Parts: sequence; C-alpha cells; structure tokens
Amino acid sequence: MHPQPLANLRILLGVSGGIAAYKACELVRRLRDAGAQVRVVLTANAARFVSALTFQALSANAVRSGLWDESAEAAMGHIELARWAQHIVIAPASADVIARLAHGIADDLLTTLCLASSAPLAIAPAMNLRMWEHAATQANIATLRARAAVVLGPADGPMAEPESGPGRLLEPVQIVAALAALQGPGPLAGLRVLVSAGPTCEDIDPVRFIGNRSSGRMGFAIAQAAVAQGASAHLVAGPVHLPTPAGVTREDVRSAEQMRAAVLRQIPHCDIFISAAAVGDYRPLALAPHKLKKSGKALALRLTENPDIVAEVAALKNKPFVVGFAAETRDVERHARAKLERKRLDLVAANRVGDGAGFDATDNELTLIWHGGKQALPRADKIDLAHALLERVVALRLPKTKVRRR
Ligand code: PMT
Repeated sequence: MHPQPLANLRILLGVSGGIAAYKACELVRRLRDAGAQVRVVLTANAARFVSALTFQALSANAVRSGLWDESAEAAMGHIELARWAQHIVIAPASADVIARLAHGIADDLLTTLCLASSAPLAIAPAMNLRMWEHAATQANIATLRARAAVVLGPADGPMAEPESGPGRLLEPVQIVAALAALQGPGPLAGLRVLVSAGPTCEDIDPVRFIGNRSSGRMGFAIAQAAVAQGASAHLVAGPVHLPTPAGVTREDVRSAEQMRAAVLRQIPHCDIFISAAAVGDYRPLALAPHKLKKSGKALALRLTENPDIVAEVAALKNKPFVVGFAAETRDVERHARAKLERKRLDLVAANRVGDGAGFDATDNELTLIWHGGKQALPRADKIDLAHALLERVVALRLPKTKVRRR
C-alpha cells in the first residue's frame, strides 16, 4: 500500500504566458504521479509557448483556453469546471495574471474560473526579476495573500535573460511538495484500510456460476476515499470491470472462499476492515468437472453455506475496526441491526437494494448504524457516501479526533 499525497485531489492547473510554461508540462506529470486528477486551462499567451495538445496528452483531459469555446462548454461548462476544482494552481503565474486576479478582473477563462470558484488558490509566480520586485507586483501579491491565496516561490537564480535574481518558477517537485503539505495529513493518516468489493462467483461447472449484480463501485469508492483521507488502502475485489483507484493496491479473487483467504491474509496488516462485497451466501456442494447437460427434467443443485468472512474477522482476538454492509429489500433497519449484533460489527451500513437501487448504480442511500447511534445518508454519489462513511469511522474509532473533510 503506497499512499499518494494528492490522491484523487481535483486540481485545476492554470498556465499563463512566459518561458517557464514548458515546466508546467512536467508539473502535470508530477501532479498525476502524486495521485491528483488534473485539468489544464491555458491563457492565450501560454498557448504561444506550449500547445494545448501537449497538456491534453499529459493530463489525459481536454484542455480549455477560451471562454467562448462552444464545444468545450457543451462538455464541461466553465461554471462546472469551477465547481469541479478542489484546488486551483496557477503555474507559472505571470505579472499580468497576478495583477488581474488581484483586481478581480475576469476577462478570460482562467481569471473567470478563479472568481467563480471557492477552491483554494495557489500561485507560483515566474517573471523577470525587476517585474517581480516592482511595487505594483508586490502590492498585487500582498492583496492575493490577504485573500488567503498561497504564493509558492519564486525561486532565486539565473533567468532566461542574462540576469540572476528572484523570479524563477519553483521546480515542479517543489510545487507538488508544497501542495501536499497544504493538504495536511488527512483524518486517516497512518491507517491501513482493507476493503472487500464486488460480487463472488460460485462455480457450478466450467462455464456456469452463481453470482449477483454487485459492480464493485461502492467498495472501490471507499478505497478511493480512504486514500484521499490519508490512509493506505487495499482492495480485495471479486470479478468486476473497474480500474483500480490511484494509490490503492488490489487483489482479484473469484469465489467467497478465495475472498476469505485473501482478506484473512491482509487482516494482520490493517486497522479498519470494510466489507462492502456482496459475498455469495451459498456455493454448489460439488463443482461439476464438465458442462452439465440438459436432461429434460428439473435440475436440483445442492448448495452449501459459505464462510461468513466479516463475522470471522470480527471474532478475531486482535480484530481491526469492522464495518459491514447489510443489503436488504425490506425491513432494512431491523435486519441491519440484527447483523450488527450477530456478526459483532462495530458499524453497519444498511443499504436498501432492489428497484435499481444500490447494486450496479453510481449512487446509493445508506443508514449507518452503530451501538448507540445512527446516521441517515441520503441518496448521493457513492464517492460522497464513501467519504461520509469514513468520517463516521474516524469519529467512532478515534472519538477525540476532529473530523475534517477535504
Ligand atoms: O457493488 P455495487 O454495485 O456498488 O453495490 C454495492 C452493494 C449493494 C453490493 C454494497 O453497498 C452492499 O450492500 N454490500 C453488501 C452486500 C451483501 O452481501 O450484504 P449481506 O447483507 O448479504 O451481507 C452482510 C455483510 O456480511 C456484508 O458486509 C457482506 O460483505 C458480509 N458477508 C456476507 C456473506 C458472507 N458469506 N460473508 C460476508 O462477509
């Protein structure tokens, strides 16, 4: 498990004009290596130095430059882009962009986004040393700092012109390190989270199996949110078609017995176990070595019960904090409370399923129940529910820790 300091942080990178714009290409790569999602906005002057295509390839996202680009507006409008950003970083920030930001001028896409977004702003200035030292630039920088903008650099050293002094763009690694420091350690820093996700497939013969409609999305969202909150996260996934979230490690399994073995191997290395997998309760008593043939008569399959993985973990002497899910189609809360007791869970997420809810959907609705309390989480995207679930885990596991959301 390797935590990434900016895992899943949505960064809007503004690139303004100047010879240092070429360094922003490496910055995009470094930000993505650190786990961030990056969308780039170029000013008209920046586009003279580096092409949008380069940034598009490096960020794996469409690059925006004009306010009036109709096709781009149809894909993600500028207001949506402003809401998408969790952090705005301008690197390099020219004297001109700094001046326009300081005065609230919104005459291009980048400055408009900065006004329209409530995301924190970090600027990494790069310009000629006399421009940097000019009283106007220094006054503009002071104005931005007073509004809580973070100023990264500039560095002191040789410039493109044969001069030396303050005005150089910080190195991309320094900018990434500074941004990582700004995120703080996260409420789950130093903790290891193990998540089971997806269905299990219980084979009947070489081509048929008993499965269910779990897509793995809920469990994958929990692993993604855990990393974003500072933890290291490991997924044990049944057969699903999802990419592994950045910074998460993963082991794929097929059957409940394989999932049990993989989970039990990881338990000594985890602090929190979240069992979001839809584990098959039964498997065929015997696996037919060849494809079963039609006989013209009814077929009776003999099933045997699978081990209950989450209950087994919760019964361990040195158990982690254990969270189970309860997927129910009726009497959701009553059944969930019964599972909380019977399986000796620390927390259960009661999950109404059926009628298109819960399984194989992008959103979900949960009621978190624990000994002494409950919390309804209304219908929302699974990633938002995952964050809320982990905040509750932090509050229950570390009652004195202040719960913080990024
Ligand atoms: O994967 P998605 O498409 O995103 O859908 C998400 C989900 C609906 C699958 C998920 O949110 C969910 O509710 N998962 C639990 C599904 C389930 O099997 O619930 P259950 O009530 O049958 O099991 C109760 C708990 O015991 C669960 O934590 C389950 O992981 C665990 N269990 C069950 C059986 C078993 N043999 N071993 C277990 O560990």
